Amino acid sequence: MTRILVTGGAGYLGSVLVPSLLDRDFDVTVIDSFIYGQDSLAAICYHPRFSLVRGDVRSMETMAPLLKRADIVIPLAALVGAPLCDRDPLAATSTNLQAIEDMVGLLSPTQRVIMPVSNSGYGIGTGDALCTEESPLRPVSLYGRDKVAAERILLERHPATVTLRLATVFGMSPRMRLDLLVNDFTYRACTDRFIVLFESHFKRNFIHVRDVARAFLHAIDNFEPMRGGPYNVGLSDANLSKRELCERIQAHVPSFVFSESNIGKDPDQRDYIVSNEKIERTGFAPMFSLDDGIRELVKGAVMIQNRRYSNV
Ligand SMILES: NC(=O)c1ccc[n+]([C@@H]2O[C@H](COP(=O)([O-])OP(=O)(O)OC[C@H]3O[C@@H](n4cnc5c(N)ncnc54)[C@H](O)[C@@H]3O)[C@@H](O)[C@H]2O)c1
Repeated sequence: MTRILVTGGAGYLGSVLVPSLLDRDFDVTVIDSFIYGQDSLAAICYHPRFSLVRGDVRSMETMAPLLKRADIVIPLAALVGAPLCDRDPLAATSTNLQAIEDMVGLLSPTQRVIMPVSNSGYGIGTGDALCTEESPLRPVSLYGRDKVAAERILLERHPATVTLRLATVFGMSPRMRLDLLVNDFTYRACTDRFIVLFESHFKRNFIHVRDVARAFLHAIDNFEPMRGGPYNVGLSDANLSKRELCERIQAHVPSFVFSESNIGKDPDQRDYIVSNEKIERTGFAPMFSLDDGIRELVKGAVMIQNRRYSNV
């Protein structure tokens, strides 16, 4: 039986991916330090092929025995997002870069690695140019730089690697993240009812969290033809501007209003469209549209309430 180690498997992506790996009869071990106090894997603890370790991926003492028994490693553990990394740069680099480099030193050449990275580094100021896997990556944040460096180390030193350069992920997960653009806007449309947009014409690209899980499964199933390279993963019909995204959300939440401001800059300067042709040529096609995701997020917003400092 194929044994998979998922680091950071209790996170937003992991807690959707891990159940789908178990559905496919893999033996799955998750290591996570549960930095958000999450219990996102509660529903699968019953599973006999699921093992869970509370630990830090930066400790090679902890990682060595787990890596030794893995046929496939999916490293998801990270401090994710530019603002979080800027708050604690040492923790960010030791987790997002150093732990990957140390892990590579422990891998045997036959062990397969499938790692997600952000495609955000493509897009600073490229406007209408279609970014492919050959386009230069010029990450501007510490988060982006560390992820790009970790990807390079893996691809250069461990040929049995596939990297998935993910568009901005959306959709509900047992460990929810409201700091992702579609999730954030839809939640605010349902709760605040309004948004002011800066640089509303900036284009971004998107992918549903369940399609990300499907992309990992696709990479497992098609590892040999895909090995050794990066693959963009996004919805090819959803390279949308922030204004267009708000219009789509408005179709689901008619009471939502948004306005555009000429004053003010978005701290996130991404403006880019991405080609997903390379992974599509290997037979991968997303199943969930942006509208599917917005519909799901509107439903999910009913459950999510931030009422720590409010009576209502
Ligand atoms: N969500 C996206 O839009 C997106 C896009 C591109 C790439 N990615 C990548 O996917 C991966 C997962 O992202 P996510 O959205 O699930 O984020 P997340 O923050 O929800 O998950 C990260 C997980 O890692 C764990 N973790 C953090 N530091 C750890 C440590 N030192 N040891 C063990 N566990 C640790 C956290 O507890 C958490 O469960 C990350 O590598 C991220 O860079 C995500």
